[in-house]
Amino acid sequence: MQKLIFASNNQHKTEEIRSLLQGRFTIIPLAEAGIDIDIPEPYHTLEENAREKATTIYNLTGTSCFGEDTGLETNALNGEPGVKSARYAGDGRDPAANTEKLLRALADRTDREARFRTVISLILDGIPYQFEGICEGHIAEEPRGDQGFGYDPVFIPLGSRLTFAEMNLEEKNQYSHRGKALEKLVEFLIKK
Ligand code: IMP
Repeated sequence: MQKLIFASNNQHKTEEIRSLLQGRFTIIPLAEAGIDIDIPEPYHTLEENAREKATTIYNLTGTSCFGEDTGLETNALNGEPGVKSARYAGDGRDPAANTEKLLRALADRTDREARFRTVISLILDGIPYQFEGICEGHIAEEPRGDQGFGYDPVFIPLGSRLTFAEMNLEEKNQYSHRGKALEKLVEFLIKK
């Protein structure tokens, strides 16, 4: 089975990706590959950050790999937090603080439309490719649910009344930005 290093140590993302790929590829997160680095996200676009993650790991290992970067974009805040989603409330990357800051920023706004956007950057045999997945939705008035991670308790995808944090993994995967980007990745890898 083809092995791909996933340029992340996020356990939630790794579980989501493994569940979506259903054993068709062996996904190796950084810790399992014996790599102990925190890859910086220095750029102003998801595309550049995803590419940076994949390139850093490919240069270290010479093994095919992919990185991803995700942002939550709101209409009322001109696309914020966007590429700054992880550090929206500060360098502590605290999901509860990020979510609180977002709810405060949207408190007097009627337009609560938002989308999660994921960019996956794959480097296969030295050649780079990118895949995008978007999930449209809106921001809830208050957090609900205890599953998932990050902004999941306040994000309601289009077509559902539940927040991502009120869904199990299988339900979230049907809607999710990461799921859509991964579908494109898998389609591409299967054709290769
Ligand atoms: P990064 O892609 O790990 O840099 O994530 C950016 C920010 O978005 C972090 O605060 C994550 O917790 C959050 N995030 C990424 N993917 C998701 C998701 O699927 N649900 C909720 N929050 C997410």
